[in-house]
Amino acid sequence: MQTQVAIIGAGPAGLLLAHMLHRRGIESVILERHSRAYIERRIRAGVMEHDVAALLERVGLGARMRREGLVHQGINLRFAGRTVRVDFAGLVGRSVMVYGQHEVVKDMVRARLEAGGTILFEAEAVRLEGLEGERPVVVFRHGGLEERLEAAVVAGCDGFHGIARRSIPAAHITTFERRYPYAWLGILAEARPASEELIYARHERGFALLSMRSPTLSRLYIQVPPTTDLADWPDERIWDELELRLAAPGFHLERGPVVQKDLTVMRSFVTEPMRYGRLLLAGDAAHIVPPTGAKGLNLAVADVTHLARALFAFFERGDERPFEAYSRLCLQRIWQVQHFSWWMTTMLHREEGALPFDHHRQLGELEAVTGSRAALTWLAEHYTGLPLDFSEIA
Ligand code: APR
Ligand code: PHB
Repeated sequence: MQTQVAIIGAGPAGLLLAHMLHRRGIESVILERHSRAYIERRIRAGVMEHDVAALLERVGLGARMRREGLVHQGINLRFAGRTVRVDFAGLVGRSVMVYGQHEVVKDMVRARLEAGGTILFEAEAVRLEGLEGERPVVVFRHGGLEERLEAAVVAGCDGFHGIARRSIPAAHITTFERRYPYAWLGILAEARPASEELIYARHERGFALLSMRSPTLSRLYIQVPPTTDLADWPDERIWDELELRLAAPGFHLERGPVVQKDLTVMRSFVTEPMRYGRLLLAGDAAHIVPPTGAKGLNLAVADVTHLARALFAFFERGDERPFEAYSRLCLQRIWQVQHFSWWMTTMLHREEGALPFDHHRQLGELEAVTGSRAALTWLAEHYTGLPLDFSEIA
């Protein structure tokens, strides 16, 4: 098999890239290890930055999001028995879109298939060859056979556990990593969200987050140790814990059937550079943020806008220079978002074994941030997202 761009992974990064290339007449093939049903059901975060939602609209992927997504003009920070609303609209004139990542994935898969694009499901890339040359090859397993996909460029959009990043010789990349001594236990519940906007709660018992997917579906999280066994957390225990951590005067948490339960480990991770020869990495394949602030999907979209422009230059003008600039452009945003995600995470989580000094310092930080319009503006700028470069995206 041959194509112009071989894309490994049908997550938001790979799917959006294929879609944007198609709109400029550039052909691609996506290889995806899992089935279509699996990737369309996989529950992930659900908050899109202002410009990310605008970008999806701009490239024709916004119709269902506009109908079913929830526009949020702010979030709440709850700590020390108080709740402070961060008014995005008032502070920065921007909002976010609450719309499940798997819904975005469904919209992208449908658009790709309707346009006659190729996504090979249950096709696992196992090896990359010739990355230093002009015709790299992705060797993949599909239906029990080993096959070859030859292209001019390989886009590694295969997430944190994929093979693209690991195919780069160690001497050519540097990775930066930080792990956190806690995880999130998340539930999706058929219950009316107890608040119209998200609540990020810092509590003596640990962090809790109230989020949602629709007016009838709640998405809730509690901080737990990374070694947690879900079997130790029957639904009632989770609800009881959420109730304690989210408690506030007049606040009533609605309970309902739990339809999904999962554990998310927390990690910050960056790869530099994001390119080796004709292999370019995008999204989780290159970086991971802890989920506080919901930046994973947003960062993947930002990478893909740069990658798409680099590929337009290459296929339309034979210009390879943007490949050189690709990492630098992406990393400029990535490190800022790494900082923001780390900051939200460490400000709101309770660290086992931390000094009493640090608990008080954390509360001092929350007081300082919520008491300052300048600090709240900074939070709002980053939460609603740094501006995206829309040039050449049509
Ligand atoms: N061959 C083919 N496909 C693969 C392989 C492989 N060897 N390894 C991984 N994949 C697929 C995965 O099954 C997955 O569908 O690559 C896809 C990667 O998608 P994501 O993990 O969603 O990563 P990305 O597109 O970068 O999206 C980033 O989505 O995953 C969330 O937390 C993440 O919110 C962030 C955003
Ligand atoms: C979610 O709705 O899944 C969500 C929302 C906000 C976050 C993380 C996850 O910071």
